[in-house]
Amino acid sequence: MSPSQRTPSGSTPSHIAVFASGGGSNLGALLTHFSAARAAAVASVALVVSDRSDAGALDRARARGVAAIVLDRHSSADAILALLQEHEIDLVVLAGWLRLVPSGVVQGFHGRMLNVHPSLLPAFGGAGMFGSRVHAAVIASGARVSGATVHFIDEEFDRGAIAAQWPVPVYPGDQPDDVAARVLRVEHLLLPLVTEAVAAGTLTLDADGRVRGHVGRPWLGAHARAERFQLAAIADADSDNTLPESDVASTVSQAAFSYDVARLFPH
Ligand code: GRF
Repeated sequence: MSPSQRTPSGSTPSHIAVFASGGGSNLGALLTHFSAARAAAVASVALVVSDRSDAGALDRARARGVAAIVLDRHSSADAILALLQEHEIDLVVLAGWLRLVPSGVVQGFHGRMLNVHPSLLPAFGGAGMFGSRVHAAVIASGARVSGATVHFIDEEFDRGAIAAQWPVPVYPGDQPDDVAARVLRVEHLLLPLVTEAVAAGTLTLDADGRVRGHVGRPWLGAHARAERFQLAAIADADSDNTLPESDVASTVSQAAFSYDVARLFPH
């Protein structure tokens, strides 16, 4: 049974399904983002799926009148595809989903299934790397930069093609919770932007696994500018789809970013 034939870049708004096993703060960021007029014209969250009946994500969905389904963690690919078809889902976002996605679903949603991970993949990812373990490993490694990654899904944990990343500093004396909070804040900004770009068709995964296009102009609030983090958009290898320099510069002053980098890498 194939999923709905509509593609994310179709003219009518895409329907998004969010799979979440936890508290759902990333789901909350998606719900807020796609309730804004401009983004709502591109997509809306139509379904929230969890493998835990007590997941906070389900409460968030119900509070917004979004369909909330508890899915048996051993569900087959066909059962998952049928659920997605029933809700006319065009795009799936994993936001705190700790299960491998069955191959049939990965194939059926090639280029239409995203995951957010709280490190700069491929570092600090893979089976068992979730939650505080990720940030403890980052600190133990001595890394001075961590961040968030949004990537397309394949059959392995955290291995699919990277769509976009957002770096954050790691300071001496940081505890895992400090890094977790700093990364989660930029997850909440990055995931909606990438989801919207894929729904709008400006960011795509082509047949040979290459990411093309870029994340559009970010709607960074004042607080994000205060953080002075630069959105690291993936530039297509053909370099005909890079973010115009003005777009990036308008998001963060190069001097400010240089200042952050200098602070990250003291002489
Ligand atoms: C996030 O840190 C995400 O990167 C990881 O799982 C966590 C989910 O957090 N995949 P929340 O439930 O969205 O608050």
